[in-house]
Amino acid sequence: MMHLPIRPRRNRKSANIRELICETSISPKHLIYPVFIHEGDDNQPISSLPGCTRWSIPGLVEEAKRLVDLGIRTIDLFPAIPDSKKTPDAIEALNPEGLVPRAIYALKDAVPDLTIMTDVALDPYNSDGHDGLVEFRADGTMEILNDDTVEILCQQALCHADAGADIISPSDMMDGRVAAIRATLDSEALDDVSIMAYTAKYASALYGPFRGALESAPKSGDKKTYQMDPANIREAMREAQLDEAEGADILMVKPASIYLDVIAAMRNHVTLPIAAYHVSGEYLMIKSAAASGWLNEKATVLETLTSIRRAGADMILTYYAPQAAEWLNELR
Ligand code: PBG
Repeated sequence: MMHLPIRPRRNRKSANIRELICETSISPKHLIYPVFIHEGDDNQPISSLPGCTRWSIPGLVEEAKRLVDLGIRTIDLFPAIPDSKKTPDAIEALNPEGLVPRAIYALKDAVPDLTIMTDVALDPYNSDGHDGLVEFRADGTMEILNDDTVEILCQQALCHADAGADIISPSDMMDGRVAAIRATLDSEALDDVSIMAYTAKYASALYGPFRGALESAPKSGDKKTYQMDPANIREAMREAQLDEAEGADILMVKPASIYLDVIAAMRNHVTLPIAAYHVSGEYLMIKSAAASGWLNEKATVLETLTSIRRAGADMILTYYAPQAAEWLNELR
């Protein structure tokens, strides 16, 4: 026998002891479900996101009741806008009778326990498919206009907050939008409405299935002049400082599972709560691999979500939210 007074395996010898020393918890209350809605009255399967649905408003209301029963208390709304309503000025984003405000009214009426987060950015409404307004120059180059976009984002945030949104979530990555949205909401006595800032949103290849779901891919160019370079982490801390100073209530890192270092660094850098967005590509990677039969989907999902929490995320946006909640509820 080896002379080994220190044996870490003693702390793993039984399920009870493993529970005692478990450092990271995950439960449905930590999960936020991103949901897609459309103008139609049918609920459509989304081919780029197997298992996800483009809901009609009544369909989403029914789904929301099931979510609350599962312990999912917050959803994030993403509208699929018909091409006929997409314009270069994205004006449909401000329609008080648009898809998002109507969904909020219906949900607040039928499922008052649900917290509603809305996405603020122009891409679902913009015929150019960018998160901001696009200026095309005579020399063939283009620019995503920052300050003009921020003005519209403030009105979009107001439109959502007026309809009853609890949390406004700007995903556009324009400079100065958190402070501007905060000031706009406060000037309308909407000081109770929270802001979850997409603080470190990377120009990631993993958004493909989401853009498929909304048919919102950029018509030209890419998003690299506003979303962050995946190579950078100090820049994420700079964004975090700004969002904190501008009055954000929650900071977000996106994507999640291949940016755990960014989540951990941000956790140590600010005192604000941190969200991580397990994005469409991360979802699809697990779904597709599980479909091969060689990956246990449940174990992989729970391990992934636990790791995101271990890195320092308080809450996780994930398309797996309802399924993970079912699995987590089974374990209790
Ligand atoms: C756009 C937006 C995107 C996502 C959330 N909001 C896509 C993009 O920036 O192109 C991606 C979410 C996902 O992939 O799950 N404002």
